[in-house]
Amino acid sequence: MDTTLPALKKFRGRHFLTDLDYTREELEDLLKLAVHLKALWKRRPLTPFLPGRHLAMIFEAASTRTRVSFENGFAELGGNALYLRPGEIHLPGRESIADTARTLSQYNAAIEIRSKKNETVNELAAWSSVPVINGMDHDRHPCQSMSDALTILEHAGTLSGVTFAYIGDAAHPCNSLSTTLTKLGLNVRIGNAAGYEMASELQEIAARYAAENGGSFLLTNDPLEAIDGADFIYTDCWWWTGQEDEYKDRVAAFQAFQVNPELWSHAKPGAKFMHCLPAMRGEEVVDEIADGPMSIIFPQAQNRMHFQKALLLALIGIDELPADPALRPIGEALLA
Ligand code: CP
Repeated sequence: MDTTLPALKKFRGRHFLTDLDYTREELEDLLKLAVHLKALWKRRPLTPFLPGRHLAMIFEAASTRTRVSFENGFAELGGNALYLRPGEIHLPGRESIADTARTLSQYNAAIEIRSKKNETVNELAAWSSVPVINGMDHDRHPCQSMSDALTILEHAGTLSGVTFAYIGDAAHPCNSLSTTLTKLGLNVRIGNAAGYEMASELQEIAARYAAENGGSFLLTNDPLEAIDGADFIYTDCWWWTGQEDEYKDRVAAFQAFQVNPELWSHAKPGAKFMHCLPAMRGEEVVDEIADGPMSIIFPQAQNRMHFQKALLLALIGIDELPADPALRPIGEALLA
């Protein structure tokens, strides 16, 4: 992928609720900005494009990476981020989503939200006059899938022709990775346990994106078929908060999907291991893999911040060219 900085003003004011709302070219443009911002960050972490701007971050569920990468990333862009959790604001309960959205829009340049319900994220965006970013909801995690695309691009040097395998439960990252990566032209293989497959509508979308963009899409119940020849092998937790009653059934259903040395002996030589984290070590992955030479899980976690900085900057935009010469190339792209 040519990483020349594209014109970015077209993103200004938009929401980022799902990768499905963005074209392939737009997703690639956001990745290009992330590549440039990360290169600049390596020379100087503070790049104050957005001084005096504020980001509201609503978290209805726990987070380590999403919270810290948004908060620190926005600080590095020169702005201030507010962490808002239930009990500290009137949502949910005493105030409607519509009133919350319209109120937060008065003081903030953007709103990030992690919610248990897609409907909450969608309704917040419908009423907000500033960009709303989905920090994960019931079944979508587009910031994760786009950050992971950045990690794959960095390690493979390209996205086209890359084969990506996800094995495990069909939850948020699996869903968003399937659509993001097929839209970006990768060969995507999903290995879900029988009875725990991705929704059929999402399978259809991923297959269509693959056909339109020169990649391929496969869903199988066989983890070894999924990882065969894959350049990147990714997994995620087998169960989630609220699924404690299903624990025994899920652990039994996913046993063959554990990423361990035996499974890895079937991986392509040089394949990389990815996980969005948090990891339940001893369940979906063991230490020998998560901490082994094949693992890129912590650089992957760092890229959450780089992609989200790009996203925030593109959606919020700037009004004038920064005076600092180091910021000018990105500033010119943001105004073009
Ligand atoms: N991967 C991810 O979203 O991590 P957190 O739940 O810690 O934000």
